Amino acid sequence: VIKTLNNSTSSSHLLHRGYGSEAVPHRKVAVLGAAGGIGQPLALLMKLNPLVSDLALYDIANTPGVAADVSHINTKSEVKGYMGEEELGKALEGSDVVIIPAGVPRKPGMTRDDLFNINAGIVKGLCDAIAKYCPNALVNMISNPVNSTVPIASEVFKKAGTYDEKKLFGVTTLDVVRAKTFYAGKAKVPVTEVNVPVVGGHAGITILPLFSQATPKANLADEDIQALTKRTQDGGTEVVEAKAGKGSATLSMAYAGAIFADACLKGLNGVADVVECSFVQSSVTELPFFASKVRLGKNGVEEVMGLGALSDYEKEGLEKLKPELLASIEKGIKFANK
Ligand code: NAD
Ligand code: LMR
Repeated sequence: VIKTLNNSTSSSHLLHRGYGSEAVPHRKVAVLGAAGGIGQPLALLMKLNPLVSDLALYDIANTPGVAADVSHINTKSEVKGYMGEEELGKALEGSDVVIIPAGVPRKPGMTRDDLFNINAGIVKGLCDAIAKYCPNALVNMISNPVNSTVPIASEVFKKAGTYDEKKLFGVTTLDVVRAKTFYAGKAKVPVTEVNVPVVGGHAGITILPLFSQATPKANLADEDIQALTKRTQDGGTEVVEAKAGKGSATLSMAYAGAIFADACLKGLNGVADVVECSFVQSSVTELPFFASKVRLGKNGVEEVMGLGALSDYEKEGLEKLKPELLASIEKGIKFANK
């Protein structure tokens, strides 16, 4: 018991929000694309998460080194590396949560949609394997363009007869992380206390932060809200340009991915009131997929929450984003069915 307590105070405080480790059930998490820019720090953060028992690190190359490295960290979970398609089944078998940061990132001048041609095929192949080896897992889709890769995954699962809309999530947590950081800076409030829902999708104007609902409240001018909105929408591009050809957000994304996977695990484990924004199948608007606040539970999505009251500026943003988001969703569906 003493050992368990020591463990949970020394190495797991990063993501450990008041959860007795004695009660934690066995959970396997698989990371697909684990040797990449996001995959490596995400593997590290998942290794620090006390809710994880088995951590499967899969990539088409370089996973033995990443797995050996991460496995030396003295936290609870057992780490195994899997490399190449022939090992994908073993990586996935028994997984409760599968996180997918596999695929190419943007370079300056590209949109996320420019990644479609390569990443759509990668995601489709990985989802075929998920349907076969761990059809009940919660899938956390990070690969871009998220607005299309999530619909692709849903179609692959439908075809396989395994689709459960409660178990498929587009990870939009980084938009929330950015909105919180930028808002705290402008409003001069403690960043750790800030909450801002971000709805819509995950690309440009489809990212709609709802600063009118931000807490703690601050009386920001309309111009400030507009500038914060634009910065949140362009946050990914800000990083892509700063990295100047060496990829897109990896460290902040790993953090965001770890927060979201932790929320999924907490939900599975029966922790009450776990709410995060995510791009999910939705009837909140007329679009078939939409990001909004989602309550997580023992089966994945427990409740897709509504948008709440919007300012006129946000209402306008919502109408503006719908055509682009719908086109990206339809592009994904069409690809998966061709
Ligand atoms: P990266 O190139 O550094 O890493 C990608 C990894 O995927 C590589 O290790 C590669 O070997 C692996 N990979 C390629 N094909 C694979 C396959 N079939 N199976 C398993 N692994 C495979 O890229 P990155 O910076 O880690 O970004 C990965 C993806 O995440 C990109 O599409 C990027 O746009 C996206 N992304 C999304 C968000 C978000 O908020 N959702 C944020 C940042 C990046
Ligand atoms: C992000 O928001 O950082 C990611 O979607 C990566 C990108 O291409 O911007």
